[in-house]
Amino acid sequence: MISNRKEEHIRIAEKNEVNASHNFWDDIVMVHRSIPEVDYNSIKTETDFIGVKINYPILISSMTGGTELAKRINRNLAMAAEKFNIPMGLGSMRAAAENKDLADTYSVINDFKIPAKLANIGAPQLIDQDKKALKERDLDYLIDLIDAKFLIIHFNFLQEMIQPEGDRNSAGVLKRVREIASSYPVIAKETGAGFSREDIEDLVDAGVKAIDVGGLGGTSFAAIEYYRAEKSADMEKTRAGKTYWSWGVPSPVSIMLASGKVPVIGSGGLRNGLDLFKAISLGAMAGGFARTLLEGADESFETVEMNIRTIIREFKIGMMLTGSGSMEEARKKRRIIRGELRQWVDDYVG
Ligand SMILES: Cc1cc2nc3c(=O)[nH]c(=O)nc-3n(C[C@H](O)[C@H](O)[C@H](O)COP(=O)(O)O)c2cc1C
Repeated sequence: MISNRKEEHIRIAEKNEVNASHNFWDDIVMVHRSIPEVDYNSIKTETDFIGVKINYPILISSMTGGTELAKRINRNLAMAAEKFNIPMGLGSMRAAAENKDLADTYSVINDFKIPAKLANIGAPQLIDQDKKALKERDLDYLIDLIDAKFLIIHFNFLQEMIQPEGDRNSAGVLKRVREIASSYPVIAKETGAGFSREDIEDLVDAGVKAIDVGGLGGTSFAAIEYYRAEKSADMEKTRAGKTYWSWGVPSPVSIMLASGKVPVIGSGGLRNGLDLFKAISLGAMAGGFARTLLEGADESFETVEMNIRTIIREFKIGMMLTGSGSMEEARKKRRIIRGELRQWVDDYVG
């Protein structure tokens, strides 16, 4: 059941329009420097990822596991993570916790030397639903399976509300996150609806090591679940998916709220290296790409490699044209904020 769902998510995300109605990265403009005084070939992109040295500020975001298709995708992404010396997250590992036969669709990434591997589990699975909550021994198993440096706990309650088999209970989840964060290095992650100011304060207080904002503007899980509901002729959930298609806190807003309080991964709607540069300029330590890296990932490593190489080139061009020779300089660059994002900044970020 879970495996079919994961496969459906991939196929829907590959073939359909699943983006939120507005991409907020388009509301940020970086100020051009005609006299950059930087040598492109000397630009330094190495950076720190929560104590781990990586070559580029890029995270391959959590997407999949649990099926043969997922295994192929994970292998190609992992090969690229090794090649570029960048961190990689796996999709929710709940399926592996429930069925050990699926372990290799995740552990396939162990064949590669990756600077930081990120295990992944959903916050809803940490408390009792119709099914019992996962226990510490399950988390130990999942972390050991891939020798993970960090444990991502993803928050996807928007998706749970729309999907036919969704978990509806979130009472007590923060207490569980606090308990787990006291013995595991936790990264709290959204999946396309972003974190508000209150969420960020709660998570920092709960002791998470970093926040991956997974904000509004890119892949919408309400949209993905809309297509699944439509296929199964569930009219209620089809309409709810449409209603909440573009719900959430924009990615740049969540980054602005979190940066300075905790290490931040900027993600949600990153399409290219310029979007990545904008995320870094807002204070993110790295940017997370999901759907952009899914393109062709089931077919070949070369496609993923080319995709990441292009993102790096675009990122470095952004550094060059703003006169940024290093990541420290990139983080201080001037930008203009306009449109819908300007309204969010004025009315909410303050
Ligand atoms: C096919 C697909 C499957 C995903 N599965 C997971 C998952 O299992 N766990 C998770 O934390 N996020 C998952 N995500 C969410 C992404 O990691 C990311 O937060 C979200 O897609 C927004 O980024 P994007 O706009 O770059 O796609 C998935 C995304 C896609 C496209």
